[in-house]
Amino acid sequence: MREQLEAIQAEALERISQTEDMKELQDIKVTYLGKKGSLTGVLRGMGKLSKEERPVVGEIANKVRESITAALDEKNEKLEQLQLEEQLEAETIDVTLPGRPVKVGGAHLLSSIVQELEDLFIGMGYEVREGPEVETDFYNFEALNLPKNHPARDMQDTFYITNELLLRTHTSPVQARTMQEYKGEKPVKMICPGKVYRRDTDDATHSHQFTQIEGLYVDKNVRMSDLKGTLDTFAKKMFGEDREIRLRPSFFPFTEPSVEMDISCKVCNGEGCSVCKGTGWIEILGGGMVHPKVLEMGGYDPEVYSGFAFGMGPERIAMLKYGVNDIRQFYTNDIRFLKQYHKA
Ligand code: PHE
Repeated sequence: MREQLEAIQAEALERISQTEDMKELQDIKVTYLGKKGSLTGVLRGMGKLSKEERPVVGEIANKVRESITAALDEKNEKLEQLQLEEQLEAETIDVTLPGRPVKVGGAHLLSSIVQELEDLFIGMGYEVREGPEVETDFYNFEALNLPKNHPARDMQDTFYITNELLLRTHTSPVQARTMQEYKGEKPVKMICPGKVYRRDTDDATHSHQFTQIEGLYVDKNVRMSDLKGTLDTFAKKMFGEDREIRLRPSFFPFTEPSVEMDISCKVCNGEGCSVCKGTGWIEILGGGMVHPKVLEMGGYDPEVYSGFAFGMGPERIAMLKYGVNDIRQFYTNDIRFLKQYHKA
């Protein structure tokens, strides 16, 4: 039996040393040490041995098993190492290859400008509100002191959906909606950015759809000087500390008095050039003191409350700030145009 065991050992060790294959190594293990393996077979026959022989053969058998197991482990480790090396060799990364550039998107210029304006007014205590683009005749016109057949309705060529429904021509209906919601009970200090629509033929300065930002501040003792200070702060923050503003009398049915605001032209520093059409000033927004009738319709007592409102076009602001000369650039989404304004 001893010879038998030694023969098994020699054979197994020989086969282990010969193989270079993991799978074959596994087979060898099964062949010798498995349940039906040859060493197991021999051990099973130990029952037939005498009492004296049994421990002796048992010891040899254990040694044989140990040596085979050790050889198997050693070989297994070696093959694993080899496999790893092969894999590393095959998969080396050439770090000298130039990388593929990752295309990173960015905010649309218009979104950035609206964001910047929102931040600016939030910093002055305004809340940001929204209103519907499909609006009723009531909020778009009547609640803003523009009754049916009022000639000033012609100032804003309107897309009507039905007699009573339309695409809002400005963000001013959100003034009326907000005052109504606040029920004349608390001050209003809000801005509202959003899309507006007008029956205009598209060209370099007109678009049938564009953006506005409305502002409304209603409280006790709000004065014209508050409007002027607010707009001056806005102009300087947006266009630079060296900009001057100028208010000109104007007309809107929902403000009285009404103004249009100009900022000083930076291209010519007020001398007069083609950008400012020789005047030294560039028109930038409309505003005024909220008309008493509008306050009243909104539920605010004009004897107690007063307020100012303004409306501006972010496209126009972006055009002035960045020298964009065609409003259609905002909507045609030419990536070469948009990319220039992506913040890093
Ligand atoms: N809604 C006006 C427009 O679209 C702008 C405006 C807003 C004027 C608020 C006065 C007050 O032309």
